[in-house]
Amino acid sequence: MRLAALAQPVVSMLPPETAHRCAIEILKFMPPRRRQAPDPRLKVETLSLEFPNPLGLAAGFDKNAEVPGAALALGFGFVEVGTLTPLPQAGNPRPRVFRLSEDHGAINRCGFNNEGYARAETRLKRRPLGIVGVNVGPNRDAADRVADCALGVRTFARQADYLAVNVSSPNTPGLRDLMGGAALDGLLARIVAARDESEPRRPLLIKIAPDLDERALDHICERALARRIDGLIIANTTLARPASLRSAKRGETGGLSGRPLFAPSTRLLAQARLRLGGAMTLIGCGGIEDAETALAKMEAGATLVQLYTSLALKGVSVVDEILSGLARAVAGRGAANIADLVGCAAGDWAPPRG
Ligand SMILES: Cc1cc2nc3c(=O)[nH]c(=O)nc-3n(C[C@H](O)[C@H](O)[C@H](O)COP(=O)(O)O)c2cc1C
Repeated sequence: MRLAALAQPVVSMLPPETAHRCAIEILKFMPPRRRQAPDPRLKVETLSLEFPNPLGLAAGFDKNAEVPGAALALGFGFVEVGTLTPLPQAGNPRPRVFRLSEDHGAINRCGFNNEGYARAETRLKRRPLGIVGVNVGPNRDAADRVADCALGVRTFARQADYLAVNVSSPNTPGLRDLMGGAALDGLLARIVAARDESEPRRPLLIKIAPDLDERALDHICERALARRIDGLIIANTTLARPASLRSAKRGETGGLSGRPLFAPSTRLLAQARLRLGGAMTLIGCGGIEDAETALAKMEAGATLVQLYTSLALKGVSVVDEILSGLARAVAGRGAANIADLVGCAAGDWAPPRG
């Protein structure tokens, strides 16, 4: 049994942010594990990269790029570090992360606590073997938030396999305004220009919120295509609070993740798939906790998927559980590769507008 798996029962009794720090420290000292050869049925080619499998670690777990190699050694096909901002920033006062155990979810209002671009850039110079995306965003008090994002694109173009711009955190006041209207096009123009000036030219994605209506999604898809963005990450945490929530902490301010986010984020993903077809890579994120939910995201339109909350609630065994279940599903459906299943159920998730 691995150290990280052995420690899980103890770690899960600690306050969430202390547990998270323990997990990072354990991963720092985890001996690199020789993994089995990747299952060819799970290999995915997209964004001009070859992913050993489609399951990634979502942004927010390794905000400062401390353990991307150890996270990859857990079996993830890719890891997204960040969100990083130009200057170090403390984030909101603690406590700011809450488990919603009865609901299999979490609420966080971290507010981009991170050590800034320079520290992470130095760490990423020692590149792990495997695919590492870098997620960037603006400082809370930035005079020009778009400039902060463009700087992130330029700063990490050398080290990142792909770049993700986060305009969807609910915990930086006003950030989500960049997802709409003329502000969106201004953002896209400047981050694309920053990417195109940088060497090498990396795939560029934006991460969007699940709390968008269809008109807002139309606008994002249309502008992202026109500006030649390579993909969308759907989605960040939600401000919604479904009436079904039972946990005592359900009234905390912040973004809700985990199981309650699964259905709304998968619906939005499917809506994007129906608008874009295969013209852009969609990364599905929100409430993935087992092979069934990972497969459902892919069938709704995700070429790649990511998780965070289920790793915190269930421990590292969730990674192998999902990968073996996905491989079985490919075989069970008579497909050659997981990519053959992408988008096959988008219409079920997002019935046509009537
Ligand atoms: C404690 C916590 C911190 C997060 N921090 C970030 C972040 O810095 N940047 C980001 O893009 N998403 C962040 N997220 C959102 C996740 O990347 C993901 O989009 C969301 O949690 C939905 O996936 P899940 O249900 O698998 O957790 C964070 C989520 C949690 C729970």
